[in-house]
Amino acid sequence: MITIIGSLNFDLVTTAKRIPEGGETVGATNFATFHGGKGANEARAARRLSPSDVKVKMVGLVGDDTFGNELRAGLEKEGVDVSQVNYSDKRTGIATILVDAEGENRILVYPGANGDFSIDKVSEDLWAESEFVLLQNEIPLESTLEILKQAAKTVKTVYNPSPILDVPNSAYENVDYLIVNAIEAGIIAHNDGNSVQTQNDAEKVLDSLLDLGVRTAVVVTLGSHGAVYASKEGSERGFVSAAKVKHVVDTTGAGDTFLAGFISQVHQGKPLEESLQFATKASAIVVSREGAAASMPTLEEVLSS
Ligand code: RIB
Ligand code: NA
Repeated sequence: MITIIGSLNFDLVTTAKRIPEGGETVGATNFATFHGGKGANEARAARRLSPSDVKVKMVGLVGDDTFGNELRAGLEKEGVDVSQVNYSDKRTGIATILVDAEGENRILVYPGANGDFSIDKVSEDLWAESEFVLLQNEIPLESTLEILKQAAKTVKTVYNPSPILDVPNSAYENVDYLIVNAIEAGIIAHNDGNSVQTQNDAEKVLDSLLDLGVRTAVVVTLGSHGAVYASKEGSERGFVSAAKVKHVVDTTGAGDTFLAGFISQVHQGKPLEESLQFATKASAIVVSREGAAASMPTLEEVLSS
């Protein structure tokens, strides 16, 4: 089973030719709502991208409101086990997303119920049931750190520290697969204050990231430029170019789909390079369509792309 512990958000997406400056009002060209939240996005993508006999479970909190009930029902309809998506007395997490003409997004996240998540919400048998546990940074950091510590005793852990928070170095010793974008890589690797931008920069920080204690492999994603990766024992290392996208519509959910697609392949025992090639194809489909959840492809779609 692939288990995702993390956020569920309702995404409110407004599209405009350009994003307003402070104090300015700009007419929008479209408004739509989508199911989102990094945790829920990964759960949906993992379900769609895994063979049908692989179980996918979402663990998290929503509010007892229309948004929360819709999100929960949406994942359930997809075939994700939602028996541990419970209710908090806060309202459901909300992401206010502005998308510009280039498809680039700006996101404000109100955590709501996600902010109440703690390790005592995780049932003990979860560790025995799961082969992989995926975490992000949209529940309280101290909860994530405790969960990583507990899960790492018996399960392969996957961590996407996004959005970036001040994560203590000791956390990475409980991470099997660390997946970060270029900005996150530069910050986490304490790259002498230098940012990571190019493939070359990213390749240089791979070892610093592994040196944090990551147990299996690190991946640094470079958006439309692809991704670099390295395994702990050094047998796998390299670069995978990104799949070409003709027209970028909305990048929301692309990172979450990349991660889930990658892990769905690793879960099947595929090597890193092949798993990343699959992930890059899956996320290229996501950016060519509107919305997070709504834009995620199925396994068949990726294989035929
Ligand atoms: O990674 C994309 C997600 O980030 C969106 O769905 C939004 O909910 C925010 O959490
Ligand atoms: Na999208």
